Amino acid sequence: MCSPQYFGVEYVINPWMNGQIHGTNYQLVTSQWSTLQTILKQYADVSLLPGIQGLPDLVFTANAAIIYRQTALVSSFRYPQRQPETQHFAEWLTADGFKVHTLPRDVLFEGAGDALFDRKEPLLWFGYGLRSDAAAKPYLEKFIGTEVQPLELCDPCFYHLDTCFCPLEDGYLLYYPGAFTKESRTAIETRVPAGQRLAVSREDAGQFACNAVNIGKQVVLNQSSREMTRWLSERGFTVIETPLTEFMKSGGAAKCLSLRLDEHRF
Ligand code: ARG
Repeated sequence: MCSPQYFGVEYVINPWMNGQIHGTNYQLVTSQWSTLQTILKQYADVSLLPGIQGLPDLVFTANAAIIYRQTALVSSFRYPQRQPETQHFAEWLTADGFKVHTLPRDVLFEGAGDALFDRKEPLLWFGYGLRSDAAAKPYLEKFIGTEVQPLELCDPCFYHLDTCFCPLEDGYLLYYPGAFTKESRTAIETRVPAGQRLAVSREDAGQFACNAVNIGKQVVLNQSSREMTRWLSERGFTVIETPLTEFMKSGGAAKCLSLRLDEHRF
């Protein structure tokens, strides 16, 4: 995670940020982030990256890189406002013992925000079309050495895969169908059996319910409806809600605010 000291909305690069410039409350930012950190610390070791003045989105560490074993493929951000983050993430990851790989500058890729490991199959789900480019797929295949399933995103509100798609332990899946093109929705629904996946409502998706951190049977998220919580409980998951409204003004929530460093299951 990255300290939210310099977090704020200072530019608009997604629809959630519209009308929110300088609209976050520092006290609330700090308390919401600290509560999330306290929750995650109960289930994981949490390392910290210091915030950097002038990089308000650095707090969204999911976008740093995709991590696989001891290697990191660092992001190549679409918008100039976030491009300087790459160097800081790369330095931090190198200092933490990761071997850092980069992409050619013209291949856009926004890290674990758009690349999510399946938690059952040796498979990487890759979201493209709004931030990352389809051109990153062969690099991901080479980097991980497993199959990459591309999914095309088409709703600007759900611009990163982790805003609308969340693979869970034992092969379960949360996804918001409206965020995907018809072909990509079919790909999801063909690969994941009906009883294993929950098509989340627009309301839940708008509350960043798919932007969940799954550790074991824990699912940590901003807010989930009664139906969604019931679906998860019936499958043995515990839903932990923690308000992240200040970060939603920037288009992110629980999952975006963290990067998993121990992905090496396959
Ligand atoms: N304001 C940030 C952006 O638009 C939010 C990033 C959220 N991160 C994520 N993994 N979905 O880039």
